[in-house]
Amino acid sequence: MSTTYTRLTKGIIEELEKIVGARNLITDIEKMEHYSHDETSVEEYAHMPEVVLTPLDVGQVAAIMRLATKYVIPVTPRGAGSGLSGGAIPLFGGIVLSLEKMNRVLEIDEASLTVTAEAGIVTNELNEHLKGKGLFFAGYPMSLETCFLGGNIAENAGGGKAVKYGVTGRYVLGLEVVTPQGEIVELGGKVTKDVSGYDLKQLYIGSEGTLGVITKATIRLLGVPNVASDLLVPFKSAQDAISVVPLIMKGGIVPTSIEFMDRSSIEMTCSYLNESLPLDGVGAMLLIEIDGSDEQQVERELIAVGDLCIQRGAMEVYIAEDASNRERIWSVRRNIAEAIKVYSPVQSLEDVVVPIGTIPRVLPELKRLSEKYDVTIPCYGHAGDGNLHATIVKNPESSMETWQDLEPKILTELYAFVVGKLGGKISGEHGIGLKRRVYLKNLTPPAEYRLFEAVKKALDPAAIMNPGKILW
Ligand code: LAC
Ligand code: ZN
Repeated sequence: MSTTYTRLTKGIIEELEKIVGARNLITDIEKMEHYSHDETSVEEYAHMPEVVLTPLDVGQVAAIMRLATKYVIPVTPRGAGSGLSGGAIPLFGGIVLSLEKMNRVLEIDEASLTVTAEAGIVTNELNEHLKGKGLFFAGYPMSLETCFLGGNIAENAGGGKAVKYGVTGRYVLGLEVVTPQGEIVELGGKVTKDVSGYDLKQLYIGSEGTLGVITKATIRLLGVPNVASDLLVPFKSAQDAISVVPLIMKGGIVPTSIEFMDRSSIEMTCSYLNESLPLDGVGAMLLIEIDGSDEQQVERELIAVGDLCIQRGAMEVYIAEDASNRERIWSVRRNIAEAIKVYSPVQSLEDVVVPIGTIPRVLPELKRLSEKYDVTIPCYGHAGDGNLHATIVKNPESSMETWQDLEPKILTELYAFVVGKLGGKISGEHGIGLKRRVYLKNLTPPAEYRLFEAVKKALDPAAIMNPGKILW
C-alpha cells in the first residue's frame, strides 16, 4: 500500500504543541537521535523522526491521533526502544509517540489478582510495586530492567519463564487502545474469560503498534512461588545439550525455564560482565529453573531433571539455590545479547521458533550456514520453548557491503529451513517489525497474508499507524 504522507510544517508542530505542551515535544536533532533506532543495528535500520512527542495522558494520545489522521502523518508508537526488529523506528519520519511519561500504576486489585498500569511503566518496576503483596507478573523478558509494559504487549514478548508461565499475552486481561482515528477503546477488563464478540484485545497483542496505540493494560497476577532453584548444566557438546531439552519436556515435569547458552555466548558475556563460570571443556550449558510452593517437590524435580541430564551426557550439575548465586547466573543469561553487541554492533539477532521435538536439528543447520558463509553464529535462547537466538554477527574486519550481501542470503536459508523443513516460524519473540517484513511476505501463504492486509486496512485505512512494519 503506498501512501503519501504530509511532512510536518511549522503550523502542524504548533498544533501538536498545543496538545502536549512545549515540554513534551522534541524537534532538536541531537535529542531526536535516540528515537531513531531500537536495538537493531543503527547502520542498517535507523531513521529520524520529524518530531518526538511524550504525551502525559490518554486524552493527549487521542488528540495526537486525530491530528495525524486529519493531515495523514505517520505515527510510530514507542516504548523503551529495546525492540529487536525495528518496530519502534519511524521509517517514514513523522511522529514518534513515546509512552515514556505514561508510567503510573493505577490500581492493584489484590482480591481479583490484577494490576492496572499505564503502558510506559518499566516491567521490573511493575513487580516492585507488587512486592510484599505475594503477587507477581509472570512475564520475564530478558530486558525487564528497561523494557516497558506496553512494548511487551505490542510485541507479545516471551522471555525466560515462558516454558511454565507462557508469554505476555496470557496475562493481559484488559487493554486501553487509541485507534488511528483517535478513539479510545477499552478491550477486555478484569475477567479471565471473555467470548463476548471478536477477541480484539488479542488482535492488538503482538500487533507491533500497527493497529493502534496501547496506553494502559490490566494484567493478571499470580501468587509468588515460595521456592525456586536453578540448575546450571554444562555439556561437552552443544548438540548433546540441546538434545536433552525435548526429553526434559516429555518427562512430566514443567520447569519454569530451560535456557540454552553455547560456549561463545557464555564467554563473550563473562568477559563483558567480568564474571566467570566453569568452562573447562564445555561446549554449551543449560540453565534450568524449577519453582513451586512445596520445597520437597521442587527438590525432587530438580534431582529428576539433573539425573536425566547426567544420563544424557552432562558433565556436571550445579545447583544454585540462594538468591545471589541465582542472580549471578541469570545476569549472565540476560546480558548475552548486549555482550554480543559489544563484540559486533552490526549483527542479526534471530529468534526463530520450532516445534520442540525438532530443536536438535537447528544447531547443525547453523553450523552449516556458519561454514558456508564464513560467519560466526553464537546461539543461545529459550530452548524449552523451541525458541533460539542464533546471532549472525558481522565479522568486525569485513566491510559493510560484504555484510549487506551476506545477511539476506543467510536469513533466507535459515528461515526456509525453519519454516519449510521444521514447521517453525521466523519469529517467536522479537516480531517482524521492519527487519523481516519481506521474509514474512515470502513465507506466508497468500490467503493468510491477504487476511493480514484486510485487518490492517480495516483498522488503519489511512496507513498512518506505524507504517512499514509487519506488512509491505
Ligand atoms: C534474550 C532476548 C534477546 O532472550 O530475547 O536475551
Ligand atoms: Zn529472548
